[in-house]
Amino acid sequence: HTVEWDAEQTGKSGYEHFMLKEIHEQPTALRQCLSGRLDPLEGDVIVEELSDLDTPGAVQFVACGTSYHAALYGAMRFREVGIPAQAFLASEYATAPPPIADDELVVGVTQSGETADTLSALRTAQGRGAETLAVTNVVGSTASRECDHVMYIRSGPEIGVAATKTFSSQLVSLSLFVESVTSNTGSGRTRALVESLRDVAGDVQSVLDDSEGEIEELVDELGGSDAYFFIGRGYNAPVALEGALKFKEITYEHAEGFPAGELKHGPLALITDETPVFAVVTGDDEAARKTLGNIKEVQARGAPVVAVTDGVLEVERFADEVLRVPETDGNLGSLLANVQLQLVAYEMAASLGRPIDKPRNLAKSVTVE
Ligand code: G6P
Repeated sequence: HTVEWDAEQTGKSGYEHFMLKEIHEQPTALRQCLSGRLDPLEGDVIVEELSDLDTPGAVQFVACGTSYHAALYGAMRFREVGIPAQAFLASEYATAPPPIADDELVVGVTQSGETADTLSALRTAQGRGAETLAVTNVVGSTASRECDHVMYIRSGPEIGVAATKTFSSQLVSLSLFVESVTSNTGSGRTRALVESLRDVAGDVQSVLDDSEGEIEELVDELGGSDAYFFIGRGYNAPVALEGALKFKEITYEHAEGFPAGELKHGPLALITDETPVFAVVTGDDEAARKTLGNIKEVQARGAPVVAVTDGVLEVERFADEVLRVPETDGNLGSLLANVQLQLVAYEMAASLGRPIDKPRNLAKSVTVE
């Protein structure tokens, strides 16, 4: 009696695709990312490799693709603590480089540490005298060697071209980065974040455990639509962009993501009863409440609405379908909602028989500008 196996299948640990394996590895990846970096007693975070970094006066992020969406999230976190911060698409940075102040830090967010556009933007910034930090997954990568500082996101290797676990680890890493350079030890905000970060791996696990079956049904229902839209506000705006990017990368279906408020300034013209809208709503703040209004706008035009939500605002009352995530604090609901959208993209691509781990025309690491 022999057992058939091949190296590739073994590498996937029984999962159909690397992408699915990596989606399921997220709780482990997040635990690795957080290991030794939380101090729940003091209510603080410690990122050892950043201990020699002063609080920056301002921050510029440069990144591409999925990493750019993480950078948008990171910039928002800095602005929330009163530090001016902006995310730039790396491929656009050198064309009209923004002025860099003396106490400004330029941060490259890059899973591989090898993306040509990102390296080029970092070099442009360095050429203008900026201090630089790489937030990367790959030890010894070009970005890690060329930048003044490095923070590792510790996801473990990611094989699927579509980034999944590294995005989650980037969101957590950037959250840690902000707290560690602003050192609000014991402050209410930092304490609450530390508490939520302690739970985040378990929260992701519960999303993964509970979603089985549910998303397959959803995909059956929504397959064959004209286009798929993704909306969210505030911290959920980058998630809307990322949800659409993941979806188009591997399903080859038309998908677009918008900050929810922008819908009415153009994209609303495309909304019909053949265009499902995934609306990401977590927490109960101004952004979430305004997104509710946007949901009503698209529903009035007949679009099927899928709410990705923690249920706090009872969005389900206005949605046709609901994908639930656990309630959490510190804007980590965005990370959890994104896991649902990863699964949606994956299941839709699987149902269409797409080559999920290596989508046509795309590369894991793009080394040309
Ligand atoms: C490629 C990949 C994307 C990735 C982007 C940036 O386009 O297909 O998944 O987000 O590069 O990669 P990086 O390694 O810099 O994060």
